[in-house]
Amino acid sequence: MRIGVLGTGNMANALATHWVRAGHDVLVGGRDVRKAERLATRLGSSAKPASLRGAAEFGQVVLAALPFGVGSSVVRELRAVLDGKVLIDCSNPVGTGFLLLTQSGLSAAQQLAAAAPGTHVVKAFNLCHEDVWRMTPPVFDERPLAVPVCGDDAAALALVHQLVRDVGCEPLAGGGLERAGLLEATAALFIGLWVGEGADAQAIAPPLAYAAGPRREDPEETARAFR
Ligand SMILES: NC(=O)c1ccc[n+]([C@@H]2O[C@H](COP(=O)([O-])OP(=O)(O)OC[C@H]3O[C@@H](n4cnc5c(N)ncnc54)[C@H](OP(=O)(O)O)[C@@H]3O)[C@@H](O)[C@H]2O)c1
Repeated sequence: MRIGVLGTGNMANALATHWVRAGHDVLVGGRDVRKAERLATRLGSSAKPASLRGAAEFGQVVLAALPFGVGSSVVRELRAVLDGKVLIDCSNPVGTGFLLLTQSGLSAAQQLAAAAPGTHVVKAFNLCHEDVWRMTPPVFDERPLAVPVCGDDAAALALVHQLVRDVGCEPLAGGGLERAGLLEATAALFIGLWVGEGADAQAIAPPLAYAAGPRREDPEETARAFR
């Protein structure tokens, strides 16, 4: 796969390391070309440095590894070259007090989709710290980390699922892009529990066998029990 990376920071480094190792061609794009050169050298192998535009032009899949608030303006500027491509959004719109910065409007992922309407935006990789993404592979108690993925285009989702597997994780279908805000809100909740409370967020979900009560033919009927 040809992968363009927008950004030269922590998430760019952590995820691109796996993708280079998996044999993909990676172009690292930064506003500071020297930082792009440094990261490409660190990634080695097929990785090359570029400008943000160069990475967007190159990638069949493009990772936006940019701060929330910056992503939309960068993507709007690049919308012509991103047209028809897959754009992965890993951003967390989480502010002071672990508050979700998008509470009254579009999710961060939907904002990227609005900035580049011809692009297939997929939300993924936002729920864990960079150190988890640097693990080779992220496996806990012999269980690979599951990565929920939200998006609307089946072909785009298939590519991102493969990139999740290339990180050593299991993709989970999280629904359409309208559900990306749930992943962003989950990140805000988890970060607040982990960082604010020192609590194990993994403990908040019961095992699947207990999670939804007795299984019924119609999943909607089961879901009604929660409403
Ligand atoms: N780090 C984590 O553990 C983690 C986990 C999950 C999700 N995320 C999300 O992933 C995204 C990236 O996080 P990160 O930790 O990789 O951030 P980072 O290390 O700070 O890297 C951010 C990158 O964005 C670039 N950038 C900043 N402002 C820019 C602008 N105006 N125009 C163009 N490029 C700009 C920076 O370039 P310069 O170096 O030139 O400033 C840098 O290359 C964020 O949305 C974050 O919420 C992070």
